[in-house]
Amino acid sequence: MLRIAVLISGGGTNLQAIIDGCENGQIDGQVVGVIANKEKAYGLERASRHKIPGVYIGRRNYPDIQMRSQALVDQLKALQPDLIVLAGFLEILQPNFIASFRDKIINIHPSLIPKYAGKGYYGMKVHEAVIQNQEAFSGATVHFVDDGVDTGQIIMQSVLRVGQEETAESLQKRVLKIEHEILVSSIQKFCNREL
Ligand code: GRF
Repeated sequence: MLRIAVLISGGGTNLQAIIDGCENGQIDGQVVGVIANKEKAYGLERASRHKIPGVYIGRRNYPDIQMRSQALVDQLKALQPDLIVLAGFLEILQPNFIASFRDKIINIHPSLIPKYAGKGYYGMKVHEAVIQNQEAFSGATVHFVDDGVDTGQIIMQSVLRVGQEETAESLQKRVLKIEHEILVSSIQKFCNREL
C-alpha cells in the first residue's frame, strides 16, 4: 500500500479526488498526511473528515523561507511517504526539499505544459491567458517535480477544446475535472510501478 503525502494551498478538490481514489480502490495507496501552506485551506477540513492528519506549515508559523522548507522536509520525513503530490500547492520548493525527495514528487498543472507554465502561471492566471490568446485547446498536465518550475518529466496530459463562448471561469471548471482524472490515473501508474 503506497504511502501518499499531499501538499495543498486551497480548496483541495484534487486532494479529494486522491482520497476518493484510495477509498474506492482505484489507487492502491493511502493518504498518510496533508500539509497546507494556508491556515484556512479547506483541504485541511477534507483531510480531517477522512481522519487524515493535516498540518499547517506557512508564513505565519514559519516566516523564514528556509525554516519553512526545513519544517516541510521534517514533517514529510516523519510521514515516510513513497509519493508526494503537489495538489495546487502554491509555493516554489527549495533545493533541499527537492533533494530530499527526488523522483518522488509529482505536480498537477492546469495547462498543456510547456504552454502557460512556469513562474507566474498558476490557478486562474493560466485560464485567463489561454482565453486572452484565443487558444483552440487547453488541458492539464501531471509531471515529476525537478529543480525548475513546471519543468519536470511529463507523466500524463489531457486535452480539451476551448469553446467559442468559453470564459476563464468556465474553462477553469472544465480543466479542474480533467485534472482530477489524470492525477488519479498518474498516481495509479506510480503505484503499479508503471512510471
Ligand atoms: C486549481 O486551480 C488547479 O488548477 C491547480 O491548483 C488549484 C487546486 O485546486 N492545480 P484544488 O485545491 O485541488 O481544488
